[in-house]
Amino acid sequence: MKTDSTFRNLAPRDCVPVQFDGVTYDLPLGENLAAALLAAGVTSFRDTPVSNSPRGPFCMMGACFDCQVSIDGVITQACMTQVGENMVIGRPNYEAWDDL
Ligand code: FES
Repeated sequence: MKTDSTFRNLAPRDCVPVQFDGVTYDLPLGENLAAALLAAGVTSFRDTPVSNSPRGPFCMMGACFDCQVSIDGVITQACMTQVGENMVIGRPNYEAWDDL
């Protein structure tokens, strides 16, 4: 059962378009990316490479790596990233790691 996000922005801020997984969201500029996506209702940021289980932010302090996303092809932690204008964000492609 899908419910509305329990995350809320405390104060109105200027929003910018950000694309995640092909969907465009208006997110507060400079906000923590993981928090902004959660507030927008996005709960699954990546799938595990072994079982394809969905994962989303857990620790919100850079320790668990469950918030990994791909921004312009670079895998990074959403909880350690600020919202920027026209970001194009996707789920990490771990298969590319096999070529390293
Ligand atoms: S939520 Fe744990 S590292 Fe980002």
